[in-house]
Amino acid sequence: MKIELIKHSGEKVKSELSVEFVTTQALKSHEERKSLEKAGFKAEQDAMCFFYEKNKLFCGVEDETSDNLRSSCGVAIKAMKLTSYKSATFGVNEENIKAIIEGVVLGGYEFNQYKTDAKKSKLKNVYLICEDVKKLSAAFEEAIIVADATCYTRDLVNQTPEDLNPPVFAKLAEKLAKENNLLCEILGEKELKKEKMESMLAVGRASRHESQLIHLTYKPKNAKQTLSLIGKGLTYDSGGLSLKPATSMVTMKMDKAGGCAVLGMIKAISELKLDIEVHAFIGAVENMIGGDAYKPDDVLLSRSGKTIEVRNTDAEGRLVLADVLDYAQEKVKADYMFDFATLTGACLAALGQYTTGVMGHSSKLKHEISKSATLSGELAASLPFNNHLKKLLKSSIADMSNISSSPYGGAITAALFLDKFIKEENKDKWLHFDIAGSAYTETPWDCNVYGGTGAGVRLISEFAKNMK
Ligand code: BES
Ligand code: ZN
Ligand code: ZN
Repeated sequence: MKIELIKHSGEKVKSELSVEFVTTQALKSHEERKSLEKAGFKAEQDAMCFFYEKNKLFCGVEDETSDNLRSSCGVAIKAMKLTSYKSATFGVNEENIKAIIEGVVLGGYEFNQYKTDAKKSKLKNVYLICEDVKKLSAAFEEAIIVADATCYTRDLVNQTPEDLNPPVFAKLAEKLAKENNLLCEILGEKELKKEKMESMLAVGRASRHESQLIHLTYKPKNAKQTLSLIGKGLTYDSGGLSLKPATSMVTMKMDKAGGCAVLGMIKAISELKLDIEVHAFIGAVENMIGGDAYKPDDVLLSRSGKTIEVRNTDAEGRLVLADVLDYAQEKVKADYMFDFATLTGACLAALGQYTTGVMGHSSKLKHEISKSATLSGELAASLPFNNHLKKLLKSSIADMSNISSSPYGGAITAALFLDKFIKEENKDKWLHFDIAGSAYTETPWDCNVYGGTGAGVRLISEFAKNMK
């Protein structure tokens, strides 16, 4: 599907279908009010009405806010793809262009790699009609770059654990580096041993795929600030010897979503040509069972020198991140350091499926992120640290346990575990994003469809745009 920005009444566009958003308020005085009402259309949010004879599609929106337009547009594009229209037009302006592009690209996203008889949509062209192409072209390009990077992340998340294992992850990062002119460094198990990353290595030991640490760098000439992005890249999380129940194991290919998101972020930022230096670090590992598996009762010596008592091998993401965070801090002195991880089921319990959990020490930074989230159309909420929860990670045998002694507050205790690996001088630069709920969905919502959502990509692209 091709999307073009075109001047209103300028070039002759031979579009077959035109789309119009209608609010409940606007319906009252709409020229087609009678026919629309006859068809039962009340302009409710996400409702639709086709006038086939007139080649018009009316889409209901509660009001014209970006969130509502994006969602309605997502529903509309899915319906349009089922018709035999080959092209469609939307009217756009400065206010709604981003929402409409996201609705079209993200709502119209399909992942058919594993389908042998995937139906091809007839819709080939979407024209965005505006008054002033010059004025909107920057916003147009920007929204397309970010939406495409989100789809790129989704494509990676949706790959099966057999197809996207840690060495393949590294190959895909190398490919992105080549295409986008990034530096790329890959550490295999031999190098990880040299780096003393025993915590990360333990998690991947029973896998037949070698664990990989991926480091991509985007280094423009006049970069004023540096952003480090760290992603949990568990290409499969079976739980290890603390094996997941069968029903919880399904979907655990998405445990690499943090790693896939940071690839999407560096892709977007480098294509937007932002004036900041960006580093993406990914711990790509598979958590499996076997005679060689790490066990509950093991004590691991992390790269930082701190020891960890393993009490549950399913709390593996934090073991990988402990070493990757330590490595990232030594290699790069960043102004901001953000990690992305499908880290805890507890985050889902706390915030629901749709919202990313944000944790860290700096209230100011959390506030900045909250503003970026709102602008980007992603949902994020902060979960607060406290010293009582911190005590629950105590171990009788090592410096800390990899799980909390309490079943409550698991998203925060997981973040407090990561906090133990954040150096004093970086405490206020670091935020942890738990995307366990927001990274993957089995039911469509907003502009998300079944599978990976690309959570984090739009949010961090927005934040990075404002870094100076
Ligand atoms: N990858 C999971 C977290 C997860 C759960 C992501 C559901 C997405 C949906 C993580 O590695 C995990 O298993 N966490 C455990 C931690 C527990 C053992 C302390 C969990 O959340 O149950
Ligand atoms: Zn796990
Ligand atoms: Zn996991």
